[in-house]
Amino acid sequence: MYGVVLAAGRGTRMRPLTDRRPKPLLPVGDRSLLERVFDAALDVVEEFVVVTGYRGEAIREAIGNSYRDRPVTYVQQAEAKGTAHAVAQVEPVVDDDFLVLNGDVVVDASLPRALADATGTAVAATEVPDPRAYGVLSTADDGSLADIVEKPDDPPTNLANVGCYAFGPEVFESIERTPESERGEYEITTTIDLLLADGRRIDVAPYEGTWLDVGRPWELLAANELALGALDESDAAVAGTVEQGVRLHGPVVVEEGARLRSGAYVEGPAVIRSGAEVGPNAYLRGAAVVGPDAHVGHGVEVKNSVLMADASVGHLSYVGDSVLGRDANLGAGTNVANLRHDDANVRMTVKGDRVDTGRRKLGVIVGDGARVGINTSLNAGVRLGTEATTTPGESVLRDRLSE
Ligand code: TTP
Repeated sequence: MYGVVLAAGRGTRMRPLTDRRPKPLLPVGDRSLLERVFDAALDVVEEFVVVTGYRGEAIREAIGNSYRDRPVTYVQQAEAKGTAHAVAQVEPVVDDDFLVLNGDVVVDASLPRALADATGTAVAATEVPDPRAYGVLSTADDGSLADIVEKPDDPPTNLANVGCYAFGPEVFESIERTPESERGEYEITTTIDLLLADGRRIDVAPYEGTWLDVGRPWELLAANELALGALDESDAAVAGTVEQGVRLHGPVVVEEGARLRSGAYVEGPAVIRSGAEVGPNAYLRGAAVVGPDAHVGHGVEVKNSVLMADASVGHLSYVGDSVLGRDANLGAGTNVANLRHDDANVRMTVKGDRVDTGRRKLGVIVGDGARVGINTSLNAGVRLGTEATTTPGESVLRDRLSE
């Protein structure tokens, strides 16, 4: 069976983290979101086909022509015109049954398995307490799909459409007939409506595992919490250098080439990637990832945060519930607020709208190459753009994006 992974989106809601990379290449723990999708599908997929678009060349370069012995081929979607349009691109290379998975989703191996076990065309469904924000499935008496309604006020069931499907090659003919949706896209759910109208049976594959769409910056943190939360003591592994006087608790992974200097205190789960340096006298806690060649220096506390490759927090700083992009640099004494005085959920701006993130604890999102001056205060929910700067002693209360 083929595994078709949709990875052509622009990832605008994830800005600034997607200014220079496609969303599926964002790191989650020790690998990318996309690699985690591949991993979940390894049981049932013999060959992956990735639909690339925005910065597709970065995906080709990062993954190459195989992943854990499975061939990986690529097709380019010239314009992100919708999920059905994306699937149509794979017709020249897919001649057998295939799964469709999004490249920006966190699921476990039971999802591809459930889809592969269904007979023929299938849509994965999971029960959620309040499905009003999703596509909601209704089933017929025989358990097959009767209908999908988008974001209904009065949901007929609690079954949400996970957005992952199984199809045979005959679906390409239906995709060709798929009309544009109201929002101007060719959507796979419209194709499913066509199949139902043609009297075709569509299985509902029940899924009870983890499901997280990673679309907005705090969802990347949530994905990281899930990935690191799945580690246990047996995953603790020290291949790098750990100096005397370092304390490691719980599942801590220190990759080869990483260095923990004296006085570093690490409460796992934590991943310290190759080439990274932590300490002396630094404190990591609560699902922290120190990326390849990143640096956490003396007197720095990093809590529940992701530091991408080459990021640096050199001295006397606090970073909580935050994401620092590649090569971002926080000057000495930078402090991140990750909790409001009124205890309300932190809000963040997404595509111009203020959005309740649902999180009491959320720090900042810092773009690649940003330079933060010494003694800067960064307020909860602030985004700093790619290569943004602050002057010494500034208090940054609003987003500072590059455009
Ligand atoms: P979305 O989350 O709708 O789009 P996006 O990833 O570009 O994010 P944003 O809205 O923030 O810009 O896409 C869902 C999935 O489908 C995602 O994995 C990207 C993929 N996709 C394509 O591959 N081609 C397309 O034309 C579209 C619309 C989505």
